[in-house]
Amino acid sequence: MNNFTFHVPTDIRFGKGQIECLPKELEKYGKNVLLVYGGGSIKKTGLYDKLIALLADYNIVELPGIEPNPKIDSIRKGTQLCKKHNIDVILAVGGGSCIDASKHIACAAYYVGDAWELVLDRSKMTRALPIAVVLTICATGSEMNSGAVISNEETHEKLEINGDILYPAISICDPEYLYTLPKGQTAAGTVDIISHVFEQYFQPNDEAYLTDRMAESVLKTCFHYGLTALEEPENYEARSNLMWASTIGLNHLLTAGKGGAWSVHPIEHVLSAYYDITHGVGLAILTPAWMRYVLCDRTVDRFAMYAKNVWEINDEDKYKAAALGIEKTEIFFEKLGMPKTLSEVGIDDTKLKEMAGEAVRTSGIAERAYYHLNTEDVLAILEAVK
Ligand code: NZQ
Ligand code: ZN
Repeated sequence: MNNFTFHVPTDIRFGKGQIECLPKELEKYGKNVLLVYGGGSIKKTGLYDKLIALLADYNIVELPGIEPNPKIDSIRKGTQLCKKHNIDVILAVGGGSCIDASKHIACAAYYVGDAWELVLDRSKMTRALPIAVVLTICATGSEMNSGAVISNEETHEKLEINGDILYPAISICDPEYLYTLPKGQTAAGTVDIISHVFEQYFQPNDEAYLTDRMAESVLKTCFHYGLTALEEPENYEARSNLMWASTIGLNHLLTAGKGGAWSVHPIEHVLSAYYDITHGVGLAILTPAWMRYVLCDRTVDRFAMYAKNVWEINDEDKYKAAALGIEKTEIFFEKLGMPKTLSEVGIDDTKLKEMAGEAVRTSGIAERAYYHLNTEDVLAILEAVK
């Protein structure tokens, strides 16, 4: 097992009604709150009104309109608000997009230059405002991790900042807030959780037995409850298990003793940077193609292990078992209603080569991924799903 550090300082408050603790918890930081939210779902669901009533004693400055795949201009706007209103704490209400935007704003609030510079040089990220989260979609794990992914429309880049100062201080995870999610977002979120686990599970280290078994449990949870959440949006058991799976899926627990660069996410991030598609949808299209492309003598044992432990496929021919495991995964994505090709989400073949180059340039995919991928490899994967 590789050495690791595991220190996740986020206070998770999970379950029905946990939002009631917010007024007391925010008091620790001060009275000036930047409320960050998206395109309006929280107003439709009544969560906004609930928060405004709960936080009646606070000075609330609002930053609405955070877009899915948050853009650097929104970060600049939020940074100005923090500086102008002397903000003490940021309250992100939404999913990965609002939380990621809040993380970036939190450190840009202490920076004198342009916020995009922090993405290009993380050493400039020295301090951050505290962040509280009310989670309304389970997918990214951003509620309990130190990463944030921000897009720059001018440069077609979607890049990550990461650092210990970016962990949310507290995250309220109430599965009932997931009831109003559109089917497409429920499905895309489930794919995202699964993909996070794959990225950490499909790594060369075979000695992290415990971490691998935990990863398989999270995968089984997603496969077990994913369709139920679609068909019965108010099924608390399904929603709560998926919500906890999303947090565990990317809070560093499943990478303990393992490590290595991710494979499918860097490719998807380029797709969503160029075409603004939903993150989980891009992952659903790419994942089976990536799996088939990297299946070889060096990787087959792990793919067969995945098939056996997650899908109970016991075929003695390990290539056959691996292929069946991949097929099961693909069928599950299909049942979730995910598209299978880039053309279905409006991506034609004019920029495939350019995007393949960008995926390699902006990540460790060519040197540190499970199966090293150069531009030609990424292009072949994209061609396979065009
Ligand atoms: O904007 P509103 O109106 O709120 O609607 C949102 C949005 O359109 C809607 N929604 C959320 N909760 C809802 C709801 N609609 C009805 N009822 C609810 N309860 O869902 C849409 C998607 O929201 P978003 O926050 O974009 O989804 P998600 O959590 O999937 O976040 C995606 C972003 O996170 C990044 C992705 O790349 C993408 O930019 N990621 C962040 C990661 C991290 N920080 O660790 C890791 C991930 O791999 C990922 O890259
Ligand atoms: Zn993801």
